[in-house]
Amino acid sequence: MRLILFIILIVFMLPLWIVGVIIYTWRMRRLCVAQNISGTANEPFGARLMMHIAGTRPDDAAYKIAGYLPSYNKLVRFLLVDTTWLASKLSGYTGSMLDYPGKRPSSLLTMLSHRSDFFDRSINKAITRTENPVKQIVVLGSGYDTRCYDLPEGMDIQCFEVDMAPTLAAKKKAVQLAAVPHDHVAFVETDFNQETWMEALLAAGFNPDLTTYILWEGVTMYLVEGTVRDTLKLVATLAKGSVLGVDYFSTGIIEGHPPYEKLSKNMHKAIKYYGEKLQFGIPTGESYSEGLESLLKEVGLSLTEFEYVGSEKDKPPPWYFFAQVERLE
Ligand SMILES: C[S@@+](CC[C@H](N)C(=O)[O-])C[C@H]1O[C@@H](n2cnc3c(N)ncnc32)[C@H](O)[C@@H]1O
Repeated sequence: MRLILFIILIVFMLPLWIVGVIIYTWRMRRLCVAQNISGTANEPFGARLMMHIAGTRPDDAAYKIAGYLPSYNKLVRFLLVDTTWLASKLSGYTGSMLDYPGKRPSSLLTMLSHRSDFFDRSINKAITRTENPVKQIVVLGSGYDTRCYDLPEGMDIQCFEVDMAPTLAAKKKAVQLAAVPHDHVAFVETDFNQETWMEALLAAGFNPDLTTYILWEGVTMYLVEGTVRDTLKLVATLAKGSVLGVDYFSTGIIEGHPPYEKLSKNMHKAIKYYGEKLQFGIPTGESYSEGLESLLKEVGLSLTEFEYVGSEKDKPPPWYFFAQVERLE
């Protein structure tokens, strides 16, 4: 009943939605893609925005910065986000896509909510644990991530947001214009495929001796293999107890092996729309985590949490994985 009412309200607001989609698409092509500002960063950001307005996963900072991004602005936020909020509020519908943490096994529709939940839990545990809590958070490929702006009150944690210059500048500007407190955040420009992010981090005041959480969410699939390996090697040099939260695709989906041919083709096409490219995946093996574990073994890191989208009974079987990796020794 709630879903039906939600759909009726959305249909009623369709003209506003259509105008919103047209402006959003124009801004995406003309302001983001044309200026090398990440378009894909808007996908998880949009999902977090929708969970926020549904009241399932509060994210005030995301809502605030959505008024000042190249893709969104206050008008687009009103036309797409506020209208959905109204429909959700009036109908009481918060299910499925807008749900958080959502049902398990997750699905293509709920994978971003599952992903947010996995990393939220992982970060929360690392910053609140009594023994050796993390003191620094580094968000590699930060896009429009807002976790640094939503830390529990009174926590003295230094944050570093790392991304390529155009996306980082757009994010920083939005954070400033939205007056989101950011004194504890350093914005660090780098291109993982060109240079070592550690040097840029050190120059920005990163302390390699402090226990650190590295959040590497929604990024590995856009990189080349050497960069992923180099990053894992660098994480292995961080202080003992440091944690890496990372997600990755299977080699099967990246290379379009059977039975992923069709899904792989559609995904490559969707990402190409943003002028970006999917290029890296990890072989899964029977346990799904086999390929990652052998990569980690090479550098001396350990896998401590592992989840995936979907279930082994699915056709095609799981291809999207979430991992928590630690430097234990
Ligand atoms: C899909 S977005 C994910 C953003 C954010 N982590 C999130 O989950 O909302 C991928 C991000 O990685 C960044 N990125 C991709 N390749 C990069 C590279 N070679 N160097 C630095 N950042 C990169 C993009 O600019 C973009 O912000």
